[in-house]
Amino acid sequence: MRVLAIESSCDESAAAVLDARAGLLAHELFSQVELHRPYGGVVPELASRDHVRRLLPLVRRALESSGSAARDIDGVAYTAGPGLIGALLTGAALARSLAYAWGVPAVGVHHLEGHLLAPLLEPDPPPFPHVALLVSGGHTLLIEVTALGQYRVLGASRDDAAGEAFDKTAKLLGLPYPGGPQLAELAAHGTAGALSFPRPMLDRAGLEFSFSGLKTAVLHALRGRPLTEQLRADVARAVEEAIVETLTAKALRALDYTGLEALVVSGGVSANRSLRSSLTAAAARQGARVYYPRIEFSTDNAAMIAVAGLERLEAGQHDGLAIEARARWPLESLPGVRAA
Ligand code: KG4
Ligand code: ZN
Repeated sequence: MRVLAIESSCDESAAAVLDARAGLLAHELFSQVELHRPYGGVVPELASRDHVRRLLPLVRRALESSGSAARDIDGVAYTAGPGLIGALLTGAALARSLAYAWGVPAVGVHHLEGHLLAPLLEPDPPPFPHVALLVSGGHTLLIEVTALGQYRVLGASRDDAAGEAFDKTAKLLGLPYPGGPQLAELAAHGTAGALSFPRPMLDRAGLEFSFSGLKTAVLHALRGRPLTEQLRADVARAVEEAIVETLTAKALRALDYTGLEALVVSGGVSANRSLRSSLTAAAARQGARVYYPRIEFSTDNAAMIAVAGLERLEAGQHDGLAIEARARWPLESLPGVRAA
């Protein structure tokens, strides 16, 4: 089976072609970062309009570079939620129309399931069951993945997501949108331990997170002092340290709690190199292993949507003819794909 996948949930337009036997044949992406930068964040209406412009050419390129004609495609997968509703609808409408025209099934994929399954594209994929730490711009979740398609949320953030904490504190430091990667770069020039920010919920039992206090901590650290390059870098470093240490400790706690020895880390923040090295080292001390997507597939892309879509289409799952998308969609409500 060969699937075409389309992603348009936020500010990345993407298309990919995945073949069950030959693997990933093509993946194309257009980032809208430049479009939204002047506004300091994603403007939903601008995002939708740009997806309309970008998606079809991306699909054409993905088909061409994968050497696929329309008749070679056995199914179409698209991100059906959660995300910006207008943006989701542009991808859903295109995916459903192509599937209708080609006479093949289409399946709406849960964006977070895409992130969770992205490491399956790597040469050494994670075993099931495993624990997943999903850290993106909108979500911070610890999940017990008992089998493909079976997800139990063990803990979540009570307020800001990890990516949101990176982005908001980056903004306070005057860094342009999207702040996460920029803050990480600045942090590399900071002095370790020069400043220390609170690690909320770390001293308490449980697997929940809270990152909203970091904004206040940053404002406090900047108040009444000249904003030197060194201070900015030290603040960035302290933000990164607080987030990385909290995520590492809770992920290890989730491994302990479930008795599992494999940890998947995915979502945009899993591109962070300090987080990767902290988690890998801490897991190794506990006899566990960590699995990541390649950096390119940590952030939004269509290859991960293709993985989830292919699994579900092969299991005989697909949607009706209506063009539907969901801004909110609980991960735990998904039907299973493979038995545990
Ligand atoms: O998964 P993603 O691309 O989109 C969502 O589904 O939200 O995640 C985007 C988030 C943003 O908050 C971005 O700042 C963060 O991931 N991010 C990073 C890094 N790269 C992306 N945060 C910290 N360090 C990075 N290297
Ligand atoms: Zn995402």
